[in-house]
Amino acid sequence: MTALASTATTDAGRSTGPLLEVDGLSVQFGEQAVLRTISIAIPAGQTLVIVGESGCGKTVLLKTLIGLVKPTAGDVRFEGQSISRLSERALAHLRTRYGFVFQGAALFDSLSIFENIAFPLREHTRLPESEIRSIVDELLAEVGLPRSAAAKKPVQISGGMRKRAGLARALALDPPVVLYDEPTTGLDPIMSDVINELILRVRARSGVTSVVVTHDMNTARKVGDRIIMLYPLFRLGAATSQIVFEGTPAELDRCSDPRISQFVEGRAGARLTELRDEQERAGFPDTGSADDEAPHEADSP
Ligand SMILES: Nc1ncnc2c1ncn2[C@@H]1O[C@H](COP(=O)(O)OP(=O)(O)O)[C@@H](O)[C@H]1O
Ligand SMILES: [Mg+2]
Repeated sequence: MTALASTATTDAGRSTGPLLEVDGLSVQFGEQAVLRTISIAIPAGQTLVIVGESGCGKTVLLKTLIGLVKPTAGDVRFEGQSISRLSERALAHLRTRYGFVFQGAALFDSLSIFENIAFPLREHTRLPESEIRSIVDELLAEVGLPRSAAAKKPVQISGGMRKRAGLARALALDPPVVLYDEPTTGLDPIMSDVINELILRVRARSGVTSVVVTHDMNTARKVGDRIIMLYPLFRLGAATSQIVFEGTPAELDRCSDPRISQFVEGRAGARLTELRDEQERAGFPDTGSADDEAPHEADSP
């Protein structure tokens, strides 16, 4: 689609294995183990959805795929090449082959929507201004944003428009892999479905490989070829796999494992009592969810 299409996909077809491979991956922050011996193979062209409750490690897993979080053990491979062995320079180049749609869009507040979308093109290409303008125009149309949105600042447009602008920016370099972190969180059901449709459209357009992290089951069912459900480690015994489900959306709906049906059907179960006990022990009042529109997200494409 863009002028970069040829360079962004040059290596496609070179390797015969999965495009992305997570192999025995563990991530620990200090005392806290977040991911434990996770293995996932993602073939080119597939849309993999990762679901699971807040705090189970979805965002951390996504970040290991682009080397933003380093594994404590295990490996992540892109086209058979270990990401952890790449130099910073090689890693920076590899990241141009990923589009990352951050939780909460993470646009630069001081830049217009136009400049936000143009940002990766200015950073990583030497395209003339006229070409950049035409690519941004194309991207705006692709995600269904009016041209009039281009001059606005992120605060001047709605949450749904910001998410679409974040998607347009992620697509600017025509990446073969797109990672989405909670693309529909905070949106109403209709706007959520607009985003779902866009994820499907992006995939159909260029056969892109996608990983979508979400706790929205509508999104999971609609866009996923395959769904993986992660479980928080602190709820699991030492010998239990952290991937408690792997299969198609239809298989997920038929699954009778209570850990899975509780999530799929959105039931609190014993969590209310658990939360109250936890908060009593900690001696603090209800703090609400820390997972909404995470303002801690790195403000960088
Ligand atoms: N950079 C970090 N340093 C320390 N702890 C982290 C870091 N990133 C994430 N965590 C912790 O890892 C756990 C999983 O986080 P995350 O992957 O964001 O969960 P979610 O499934 O909601 O996306 C949380 O307990 C979080 O506090
Ligand atoms: Mg998250």
